[in-house]
Amino acid sequence: MRVLVTGGTGYIGSTAVEILLSRGIEISILDDCSTGHADTVPAGVRFVEGSLLNSAQVAKALMQCDAVMHFAGKSLVGESVEKPDLYHSVNVNGTRNLLDEMRKQSINKIVFSSSAATYGEPKVVPILETSETIPTNPYGATKLAIDHMITAEAAAHGISAASLRYFNVAGALKADRGWLAERHNPETHLIPNVLRSTTENPVKIFGTDWPTEDGTCIRDYVHVIDLIDAHLKALDSLGNAGHQIYNLGSGSGYSVRQVVAAASAAIGHQIPFLDSPRRAGDPAILIADITKAQSQLGWEPTRDLNVMVSDTLKSMA
Ligand code: UFG
Repeated sequence: MRVLVTGGTGYIGSTAVEILLSRGIEISILDDCSTGHADTVPAGVRFVEGSLLNSAQVAKALMQCDAVMHFAGKSLVGESVEKPDLYHSVNVNGTRNLLDEMRKQSINKIVFSSSAATYGEPKVVPILETSETIPTNPYGATKLAIDHMITAEAAAHGISAASLRYFNVAGALKADRGWLAERHNPETHLIPNVLRSTTENPVKIFGTDWPTEDGTCIRDYVHVIDLIDAHLKALDSLGNAGHQIYNLGSGSGYSVRQVVAAASAAIGHQIPFLDSPRRAGDPAILIADITKAQSQLGWEPTRDLNVMVSDTLKSMA
């Protein structure tokens, strides 16, 4: 079996490539390397350095593939507020192109990287897949638009699809050739920022007056290896025409202060931090209900916050 991994040079996509290869799956990668890194491409893997927006490049990347794992896309909430057109173009139009080219080549299986950002500010936690979707930023709106597009594609053209709504992905995988670290620039994610915090440049805690026990935001963190395991199980589940949506988290939440404490324990000293104002667009609490992925895919996340923090730390060494 050959799988096209779009966004296969990014943090999550490159981890997927490594794990799929270890399971004997052949890989093609499509990535424009706008935020990814070509040095993650393993030797011998077919790699098209190109854009989702270029039909010829997408068609070339899809050749001889049986299925697609679609990670490629713009993924920064703050940037999406400043550049909504860019997010619409790359994420929505890019996926439209991908689905069109898949249809031309009769490739009818896709696992898509959706996001908890599709839900917006939840009225009830934990969040179910059937919860209301009212995204609070353009990033979430593009992911929701793509989910709707895939549902329509399945109804009209019989593709078999799974959208995986990620909560907060963390941790890292150690490949034979070294750690596949999160290498974003700028880095906006909490765990790498906490681990990089120094007295001169302490990590900011965005908001200490949220309606939570310790006043900081609560998020549901899931290890990237567990996340990719869910992708494999989702891929295995495909076959019948239709579109399923699954939340991927751990089902429990940690506050920003609890993350700082876990990281301090991993490092062996108190990590400096600076209590700061709220960051625009942050919901107070996001926790996934993962019952559907557990019961329908047989998926179980096994790596806790301490493992996520220590693997991230090792990957940064
Ligand atoms: N935070 C800080 N300081 C930092 C970075 C983050 O206090 O330097 C806080 C944030 O305010 C938030 C929590 O830590 O409360 C987690 O923030 P991240 O930026 O790590 O992650 P988000 O929850 O904002 O975003 C993640 C994904 C998005 C996705 C979203 C779903 O990165 O792609 O979950 O809501 F859209």
